Amino acid sequence: MSGFSTIYKISIIVFTLCFGVCGACPVLECWFVQEKPGHGGGLSTPMSQEKSLMFIRTEAFSEEIKTELHPPADISSSRVYYVTDPAGTFCSAALNPPKGSVNKPKCEINPFMPHASMVRWASALTDSAQSPVYLQADWFSVAAQGLDEQLTLSNIMRAPLASKDPKVILSVSSKTPVVRCRLGEPVLLDCGFWVDPSSPLHGSGFSIEWRYQFRGEGRLVLAYDGKNDRFAETSESGAEMDITGLYQTGNVSLILEESQVRHSGTYICTVYLPHLLAQVAVDLEIVEPPSLSILPSPLPLLVPGQVLSVQCEASGFAPHTLDLGWEFTGADGKSLSLGQGSVTGHRRASDGTFSQSSRLELDSTKLRLARGGEISCVAKHDGGTRRASAALNVIGVAAPSIEDSMAMVAVALLLYGMIKFLSWTFSSSDSGDSELNDKKEK
Ligand SMILES: *[C@@H]1O[C@H](CO)[C@@H](O)[C@H](O)[C@H]1NC(C)=O
Repeated sequence: MSGFSTIYKISIIVFTLCFGVCGACPVLECWFVQEKPGHGGGLSTPMSQEKSLMFIRTEAFSEEIKTELHPPADISSSRVYYVTDPAGTFCSAALNPPKGSVNKPKCEINPFMPHASMVRWASALTDSAQSPVYLQADWFSVAAQGLDEQLTLSNIMRAPLASKDPKVILSVSSKTPVVRCRLGEPVLLDCGFWVDPSSPLHGSGFSIEWRYQFRGEGRLVLAYDGKNDRFAETSESGAEMDITGLYQTGNVSLILEESQVRHSGTYICTVYLPHLLAQVAVDLEIVEPPSLSILPSPLPLLVPGQVLSVQCEASGFAPHTLDLGWEFTGADGKSLSLGQGSVTGHRRASDGTFSQSSRLELDSTKLRLARGGEISCVAKHDGGTRRASAALNVIGVAAPSIEDSMAMVAVALLLYGMIKFLSWTFSSSDSGDSELNDKKEK
């Protein structure tokens, strides 16, 4: 019982805290962007941009509350909106920076025209005639990007004609607008949606689509027709969505089983309701640092006066930007940059990763190389810095150290002593022999 009451107390505390802090809905400054009136449409339609402001609450605004709010004077009153957001989709800390902070979330609001979707997996949604009365309203689409790449959001809002009180009807968002991962790992691209349960569109079906886009190239990754409970045929393998999560929490995250270089790009998560759609983009970057090797391996002994050519091979990396360089670490532990060497162009492997190499001419007469040490190839990459080293040994030491000189003096002394000793021994035995010979001759 006491455990239960503790849980009860804690939940009350969490509840109050949440309404004080985490449930705080922002006052969002947005750019209201629309086509300039009087232009017939087309590709190069001039756009107008006005400052606008959204007051946001999870409950509807009463006239009383509205009179207490004072929008800044530089925003036209016709561009001030009182948004009801029942699920609190806007009420994330990422869209609600501390007062006075320099960084602000990005936000844009556009007029939205409901329309039947043309894509195959969403066309079933508008098979039956929809209540056109419900669509006769002012519709808006809001795109917002939270701070620190924590959130990207796209909401469709409906306001009774000529009112200033829109309500969020459809919300699509991702908590991972930017995803970076290593090669060969499973990847989760977050996307979730919410539909206002009080809207007539709720329960009349939805469709989900994930598209891939990179430098103008695009392809369908996954499409789910929720009305017919059917996935569309795609050429993509190893990409899936958890259907249970979809129906339970609106979690339509895309799961890639194993990341490959070709997966790098932008993924667009689109949710279709009858006549409505909202989408968010998630950027995926596959970042794999290079593997390095130094050739020849092991390095041959360096003969003084000779030039040795060494090569550093960096392979298996992506993206292609790489900074290759050489370092020498002497016997005294001090490092010295030897520059870039001559770097080759990139080669591309069948898995999409890159390789590149650098050749360095090691001139033993230069610098402190003459004493040998360690040669390192250093590769700076977005995925991290990698380093490979090889021992460099030199035949015959041209510039001896103090220790070496002392050892040489000691050896010299020893040799001198031995020669002295030997010569003394031999000369004394020589004289003995000669005495004998002398005697024989006599
Ligand atoms: C969405 O589903 C994926 C895959 O099942 C899961 O890993 C992820 O945690 C879910 N996200 C949320 C917010 O529940």
